[in-house]
Amino acid sequence: MKHVLVINYSQTGQLADITAQVIAPLRAAGHDVHLETLVPETPFPWPWPIVDFVDAFPECVQLDAPPLKPLGIPASREFDLVILTYQVWYLSPALPMTAFLKSPEGRQLIDGKPVITLVACRNMWLSAQETMKRLIAEAGGQLRDHLAFTDQGHALATFITTPRWVLTGRRDRWLGLPPAGVAPEEIRQASRFGRALSDALDRDGEKSGTAMLTGLRATTVNPRLALSERAAHRAFKVWSKLIRAFGKRGQWRRRPMLLVFALYLITLVLTVVPLSLLLQWLLSPLLKPRLERLKTELEQPSGSQDFNLNKYAQ
Ligand SMILES: Cc1cc2nc3c(=O)[nH]c(=O)nc-3n(C[C@H](O)[C@H](O)[C@H](O)COP(=O)(O)O)c2cc1C
Repeated sequence: MKHVLVINYSQTGQLADITAQVIAPLRAAGHDVHLETLVPETPFPWPWPIVDFVDAFPECVQLDAPPLKPLGIPASREFDLVILTYQVWYLSPALPMTAFLKSPEGRQLIDGKPVITLVACRNMWLSAQETMKRLIAEAGGQLRDHLAFTDQGHALATFITTPRWVLTGRRDRWLGLPPAGVAPEEIRQASRFGRALSDALDRDGEKSGTAMLTGLRATTVNPRLALSERAAHRAFKVWSKLIRAFGKRGQWRRRPMLLVFALYLITLVLTVVPLSLLLQWLLSPLLKPRLERLKTELEQPSGSQDFNLNKYAQ
């Protein structure tokens, strides 16, 4: 029997549902799973009032997270494996996960341990995962696998459906657009990772130093989005610093700058993003080899291959 620590935080329950699918087969196979749900000292709202939503941006990007309530376990407790589940907020890990990874308790729990990351978000998780990799390494953890779940709609449709969901709480089919969030079937099929992980733990796979969840279509990267995301993340770093120079989270004096940023963001989504996608589509014969290489590289360590799918799918 292995001891597994799972860290979770979810506003709508979507990430919690995916996590539950992964955990169930582990528990059924007799492994001891401790699910730790992060609780911010001051809860984040759901749905988000628009001002709070924009005001969260600078601290998300600058990784300046408000504190969490104490964890339910002592930081000295030993685990064989840690699974970190998180959402993306402004191309960065959601603030509760950032708070955990920067806290002395979180770092102690991860130190020297194999780690699996699981993300569920709209579709842009590459920059956030780069940050996760860095924070995990700084804490002394070793990233083994990464699983990514993204919203079911087309990248352009989710520019409307995800903000509508976050700002109004409504995620149903609307104006011919697909519902917001990860497809229910995708969530159900997340249990394949639990079954494969359970087998891997039975043969001490967590000690092998290599990925345990390959061949299960763990991550599928669209390299065209990756290029737009990199550019956006660079711009986000500059904007977040600038806004913080005007004041702290919640202070009125930074609101004019937040408004300018919000207008910039809307303009970016309406113009630069579709234009860059169009340009990349037109240039795709030329870009193809580079994009293919980028795709393979960004899908590491677990990859998009499916050679184990039949074995573990249900
Ligand atoms: C403040 C905020 C910012 C977000 N920014 C992004 C983002 O940059 N990229 C993305 O793919 N999803 C983004 N999302 C969507 C979340 O990743 C997630 O899909 C959604 O909040 C539901 O998660 P939960 O119900 O499990 O908490 C954002 C959500 C919030 C609340």
